[in-house]
Amino acid sequence: MILVTGGAGFIGSNFVLDWLAHSDEPVLNLDKLTYAGNRRNLDRLEGDARHVFVQGDIGDTGLVARLLAEHRPRAVVNFAAESHVDRSILGAGDFIQTNIVGTFHLLEAVRGHWLDLPEAERAAFRFLHVSTDEVYGSLTPEAPAFTEQHAYEPNSPYSASKAASDHLVRAWHHTHGLPVLTTNCSNNYGPLHFPEKLIPLMIVNALAGKPLPVYGDGMQVRDWLYVGDHCSAIRRVLEAGRVAETYNVGGWNEKPNIEIVRTICALLDELRPRADGQSYTTQITYVKDRPGHDRRYAIDARKIERELGWRPAETFDTGIRKTVRWYLDNADWVAEVQSGAYREWVKAQYQGAA
Ligand code: NAD
Ligand code: DAU
Repeated sequence: MILVTGGAGFIGSNFVLDWLAHSDEPVLNLDKLTYAGNRRNLDRLEGDARHVFVQGDIGDTGLVARLLAEHRPRAVVNFAAESHVDRSILGAGDFIQTNIVGTFHLLEAVRGHWLDLPEAERAAFRFLHVSTDEVYGSLTPEAPAFTEQHAYEPNSPYSASKAASDHLVRAWHHTHGLPVLTTNCSNNYGPLHFPEKLIPLMIVNALAGKPLPVYGDGMQVRDWLYVGDHCSAIRRVLEAGRVAETYNVGGWNEKPNIEIVRTICALLDELRPRADGQSYTTQITYVKDRPGHDRRYAIDARKIERELGWRPAETFDTGIRKTVRWYLDNADWVAEVQSGAYREWVKAQYQGAA
């Protein structure tokens, strides 16, 4: 069995579904079910004995220790985190608590479990920490993409908290010998993405006839990766990654935000044209920029390709088409996640501009 934390969130739930589609090894899924966690993401696993769901906090050492003793996982994949940069700007407390303090408690509980394992199991055990390219800071337009050697220069409360958690993971290996792996991935998109992030927000706002709020000049660059490709990268690193190494994961797909938004509009114009015959691009609205907004991220993913033979399977064209179709086909999921709390967030963040 493996323990997945944060497996009811966007990437975590895609990972659990993907894992059980590729293997019969059971998953123990520990998730606090914050606003970003959604049991419905795992509906397909209802009644599947290979999936054990527990609602709880990675920072609850007693609970985590009990779960580890009872289920004896051979690996932990840690997705659990507060993940939205804009929320970290409005209030960083939960980010510090989960991403830093929570990761510390999780590492301690896992270390206790690992030390109790018989020697062969101890040697095979892995703690895979899922991190982000944002820990490397921002690139100028001409700078080479981030390699694993790039200095950590986090700029937002979110990325600083993720950087801190990466450092803890590194230290728990260096000092205590815990067999860790770290992945630093670029921006994901795909099914089950909570509509507070750029791509799903633009799709659901477009369909609702609302403004499409582009921050600043819309020329910030991100490197987009289809979520299924991130899942296959994590599976591969867990299987064959070298202990204590970090692997950058990216889509070789840098695009400015405004191009992403225009692509979504063009797909919707094709697949669900507006009743008035106008393009969805007429809904694009430039709004005030994100404070401290990183200008460009780009991942150099040659190490994971060279060492582990991983490359993304989707191009941006195939991935974004699948994604838009998924949102068109899953209007009930969208309606359900747009609860009162979601509406409060949109009101606070966009103040009428979305
Ligand atoms: P998400 O916000 O969609 O999901 C996070 C999940 O963690 C939720 O289900 C939430 O309930 C759970 N969680 C939060 N605090 C918890 C706690 N204290 N204990 C247990 N569970 C808790 O995030 P995501 O986009 O799926 O990202 C998952 C991980 O991948 C994060 O660590 C994030 O930093 C990293 N990452 C995300 C991206 C991206 O583009 N989304 C890219 C690179 C790395
Ligand atoms: O790079 C990996 C990171 O990608 C992950 O670590 C984070 O968890 C994930 O949220 C994501 O962070 P970003 O800040 O890049 O993602 P977001 O979707 O919030 O924004 C993408 C870009 O779009 C960014 O430049 C800000 C811009 N944006 C975002 C929103 C929500 C807008 O222009 N308008 C918006 O309304």
